[in-house]
Amino acid sequence: MNPELQPDFSLPGEEDIFQEMIKLTIGMMEESQEGCPLRVQHAKANACLTATFEIASDIPTDLQYGVFSQSGRTFEAIVRFSTAQGKIQPDNEPTARGLAIKLLDVAGPRAMDGDTDQSQDFLMVDHPVFPFPNAKEYRDVIKHKSVPLIGDLLAFAHLQLFDHDQLDIIKEIRKKTVTSPLNITYWSGSPYWLGDAAGTTGQAVKYSAVPPRLLAGPDDPAKLPDNYLREAIAKQLAKDEVVFDFKVQRQGDPTKMPIEDASASWDEQDSVPVTVATLRLSKQVVSPESALEKRCEDMSFNPWHALKEHRPLGGINRLRKAVYEASFTEREHRKKTA
Ligand code: HEM
Repeated sequence: MNPELQPDFSLPGEEDIFQEMIKLTIGMMEESQEGCPLRVQHAKANACLTATFEIASDIPTDLQYGVFSQSGRTFEAIVRFSTAQGKIQPDNEPTARGLAIKLLDVAGPRAMDGDTDQSQDFLMVDHPVFPFPNAKEYRDVIKHKSVPLIGDLLAFAHLQLFDHDQLDIIKEIRKKTVTSPLNITYWSGSPYWLGDAAGTTGQAVKYSAVPPRLLAGPDDPAKLPDNYLREAIAKQLAKDEVVFDFKVQRQGDPTKMPIEDASASWDEQDSVPVTVATLRLSKQVVSPESALEKRCEDMSFNPWHALKEHRPLGGINRLRKAVYEASFTEREHRKKTA
């Protein structure tokens, strides 16, 4: 089997990079106007909602692992729609949008040692790839970006000099404005194991969530109110439910669909995503004052809150194992000492 699929796979020296990234990430943490510590990425919630995640009853045998082995079962879920930056900015600012899904009461061996969480989280953004192939390249840019005042300029210069491909992906993402978070497709970007808990039988996959209707971005975003994405979600869910198809894409040829390069797109013609569940957002009242919205801000969505059968793969996900936990712990710590 490809060693990159093994649970203990790592690259030489990466642990030092992870530790450096923890420091850089925590150093960038900001606070809301009310003095509450914000997520370093995806700080702004466009909505936090209740949902159900219904496992399909016709899943191909080779994909029937973890929650997808429970044909026809409905999981209760919490869903957080977000905007990618670590600041609270107006919604017409072009950037990526996030979808974090937390399935509740999921029993089974955990992907992360000592994880007491009983959830299965799926984190996605509205772009099929992550701009950086691995932790080292990402660290190099974040290091420049973290320099006070001129960080953005330094990071841009670094990318322009050394990493054109990455700059192209970032430019693509920085062009995006959306009409509603309920009318765009989301992708996991990074790969995941889908197989038995021992890691012997199974394969690498990526995930996506496809809405019933895709909409292009707004014609004149500058004219829209600061929180128009929240308003769009509230308006849609006041009238009717919205149901996303949740899909799994198998890894085909590992040279064309690598695990250790999160910036490589897995061609959806070469390996067509298969619907394995539906994410149902029922008709509901969406309000920033709801108890769920407040609870959501104190929660941790983390790709490593997962069953062993859904273990995250690749260097970008190994980096996330270190950083998400540290970001959440720091948020908790700052709240207690405020
Ligand atoms: C394919 C790659 C990635 C995707 C799809 C992704 C997606 C997301 C999403 C959707 C959230 C919001 C979760 C929520 O609503 O609470 C999030 C949060 C976050 N992401 Fe990522 N992300 C990726 C890579 C990374 C990497 C490489 C880092 C490393 C620095 C990172 C750092 C963070 C942090 C620090 C948070 C906030 C965690 C917290 O405080 O709870 N992400 N990400």
